[in-house]
Amino acid sequence: MSSPKQTPMIAQYLSIKAAHPETLLFFRMGDFYELFFDDAKQAAEALNIALTSRGKSEGEPIPMAGIPVHARQTYLNKLIEAGFKVAICEQMEPPGASKGPVRREVVRTVTPGTLTEESLLSPRENNYLVSYLPAAKRHPHALAALDLSTGEFFALTLEREDQVAAELSRLEPAELLIPDNWEPEPWLKGWKRCLSRRGSWSFDGKEGARVLLEHFQVTSLESFGVADSPPCLGVCGALLHYCRETQKEALSHITGLSRLHQQEGMVLDETCRRNLELNYNLKDGSRKSSLLGVMDRCITPMGSRLLAQWINRPLQSLDAIATRQESVSWLRENLVAYQDLRERLRMVHDLERFLSRIALRRASPRDLGGLRQTLQCLPQLYAILTPADGHSLAVPSLLRILADHFNGHEALTKQLEQQLADELPLNLKEGETIRLGFDQTLDTLRSLSRDGKSYLTKLEVEEREKTGIPSLKIKYHRSFGYSMEVTKTHLDKVPPRYIQRQTMTNGVRYVTEELKEYEEQLLTAEERMLEREQLLFEALAEQVARQAETLQASARAIATLDVLANFAHIAEERNYCRPLLHEGAVIEINQGRHPVVEQFSDTPFVANDIRLDNRQRTGLITGPNMAGKSTLMRQVALIVLLAHTGACVPAGSAKIGRVDRIFTRVGASDDLAGGRSTFMVEMTETAHILHHASERSLVILDEIGRGTSTYDGLSIAWAVAEHIHTQCQARTLFATHYHELTQLESQLDGVFNLTVEVKEWKDQILFLHTIVRGAADRSYGIHVAQLAGLPRAVTRRAREVLADLEEHAVHHPDSMGQGHAPASQPYQLTLFEDAPPSPALLELKRVDPDELTPKEALEALYRLKELL
Ligand SMILES: Nc1ncnc2c1ncn2[C@@H]1O[C@H](COP(=O)(O)OP(=O)(O)OP(=O)(O)O)[C@@H](O)[C@H]1O
Ligand SMILES: [Mg+2]
Repeated sequence: MSSPKQTPMIAQYLSIKAAHPETLLFFRMGDFYELFFDDAKQAAEALNIALTSRGKSEGEPIPMAGIPVHARQTYLNKLIEAGFKVAICEQMEPPGASKGPVRREVVRTVTPGTLTEESLLSPRENNYLVSYLPAAKRHPHALAALDLSTGEFFALTLEREDQVAAELSRLEPAELLIPDNWEPEPWLKGWKRCLSRRGSWSFDGKEGARVLLEHFQVTSLESFGVADSPPCLGVCGALLHYCRETQKEALSHITGLSRLHQQEGMVLDETCRRNLELNYNLKDGSRKSSLLGVMDRCITPMGSRLLAQWINRPLQSLDAIATRQESVSWLRENLVAYQDLRERLRMVHDLERFLSRIALRRASPRDLGGLRQTLQCLPQLYAILTPADGHSLAVPSLLRILADHFNGHEALTKQLEQQLADELPLNLKEGETIRLGFDQTLDTLRSLSRDGKSYLTKLEVEEREKTGIPSLKIKYHRSFGYSMEVTKTHLDKVPPRYIQRQTMTNGVRYVTEELKEYEEQLLTAEERMLEREQLLFEALAEQVARQAETLQASARAIATLDVLANFAHIAEERNYCRPLLHEGAVIEINQGRHPVVEQFSDTPFVANDIRLDNRQRTGLITGPNMAGKSTLMRQVALIVLLAHTGACVPAGSAKIGRVDRIFTRVGASDDLAGGRSTFMVEMTETAHILHHASERSLVILDEIGRGTSTYDGLSIAWAVAEHIHTQCQARTLFATHYHELTQLESQLDGVFNLTVEVKEWKDQILFLHTIVRGAADRSYGIHVAQLAGLPRAVTRRAREVLADLEEHAVHHPDSMGQGHAPASQPYQLTLFEDAPPSPALLELKRVDPDELTPKEALEALYRLKELL
């Protein structure tokens, strides 16, 4: 790439840049990082800094942008946020150490998925680097995820693309690695911005096994649960490769790897997470008023991150749920203990992130200080969880296991206490990280550099006395160093031991052996002191890194305890109950409330009862606008979800039959960028539900079919409700404004009607928000329009039109085309020219005789008879 016309420095730049094509190259030049050519243009624009030029390349000025080294972090933050990757190229030797340009190397590549700096990460969220290998003939899809900032590392295989999509929506990768010989398919479109293509060889199973064996220093990968799965090994290997390449450091804080299994967690797809506002609200996309937002009262960032994991992957094992519940109950019962715990947790720092920075040699003195303070808290946490008064037997097993992780760090705590100063600097270069009195060599260097000044003053006074020259001064000069200055009038008194250095207009500069020796010591003292300090600091950090595995286990235990105490705290504060989970179908919630709306509503929230089971599987909810239909359905979904995390739920009591997957189809949203209209989005999401819902699922449908003409919409809604009820057999809540659908109650066993009560009073309506059995008798749309402030003239006219329509409604679908609005209840039957279709008829329509074997035909006949 370099041509003879380049200067050696630019030639060096170009060769390094060629090895880092997809990154901005921060090229160290003294006190600056400089960017050249296109990099300079991109950075100047993204950072809003000056674009200048330096020298020429092939006759053209080279565009250049510079960033002062001390301000690197701020600029890095901006670039990473803007989606860039940055390779940091340092000078590896002092200038002039060798011929030609200073040796330079890329010491690290900063990418969105491999961040560890506090300033670049949000403390309460994970930052996942994910690798994905699509399914091939002989193997399923595989995903691996690593949070480099905490060391968490896991992998899983999945059978279908929609499962991969759901998993990605859970992980929200900061960066997604895919093999470069695979063209990403449309369903991966949402992640386009964070895709990084990597050599397909790095996804190879054998290569992965080799990398993992080497990294973990083990002889078998059996215990990680990935040994039998080449795609798993491949994705894990690809991740480690990438981290090694970008970090150039031992990744000693990645101490373990686990294999997740799809069936162990409740499946929540992207649509469901968004509709239920699990992590972000739909209004402004922030955490506020999301489920996580109201459920996160954790004290530590580690707790908050774990809570997000729990909420985004609720459990399926009833035993595991019960284990968490027992701990929450114990904490609630031992009020003093849990309040005490939460107080103590305030002193705990983000141990997981310290450990990663320590392992990657990016730890600051304050990181070790935070570790010290955290470790000092552990014995207190242990004590709270192991009460001495003989009650410890009653402490649930999970809490006892957690307590055990708080033991065994005494030696390290002591070491940190003995070696680290009380007050720690932000930066090691500021000195005074190591405690005074810990290391004699360091202390000597310190006093030398600190006491230098007073020593010189002392020497000056002594020399004045010895020589009798009152004006003698010891001065420092940049090019000559320290010297004694004697004015012309006193030159005759200068003793022979003075060595002349320089004559000035009005005097002479001298040095003495003593001054020369001292100068040597003084000038290097500061440097040697910092070197010594660094050496001791690194040794200490090394000690910590060697214990990374047990420290991580403790960190995890703190996080778990924090989340459990958080559940207890919320349950106490908001009067939540412990739900009973079981393997049956019944979902029975008494006096349930919406966990988020309840927190933000000014008026008291009206609690409601609901029961879904095999005999009443599909609840059709009709009722006026603003009555609370959507709120109720989401409330049920959220309570079910929370119950599976081990948390208490906002209800008087709740029995929850295990749910393996929650599906939602809510409201209208355009996907214009994705090229899909409102109705198309709605139908795609509905199709997804129809294909995947099973009798273990919970389905929430809010107004299917509204985005099209009334007839189409109603017919689709009808067919969808039937299909979910009879085929998928999922427990379902279906809110609709098509009153016609309420007839399904009498046609299909297990469909039942619910409505929300309202009171009419002097042409006004009063929303009671109470759910009762039965169908709504009218719509009240115009009332709500009036409430919303539609001009009086318009609502008055609307009433006239409505009255007219109701009077003239012709019982024939064709009349709809002539400007008539859909008829309300008395006319609905007429939508279908004869009687409403019987299930047998519908089934018969579905049957294709040409497709059936004789046996299947006979079975179909039996089925039809049953439906009559
Ligand atoms: N149980 C309740 N207690 C108190 N307030 C409630 C309750 N349920 C709903 N609300 C309030 O009523 C408002 C409207 O509720 P929601 O959106 O669920 O109505 P809806 O029946 O779905 O209306 P639409 O038919 O227009 O979609 C909510 O914003 C909420 O503030
Ligand atoms: Mg609604």
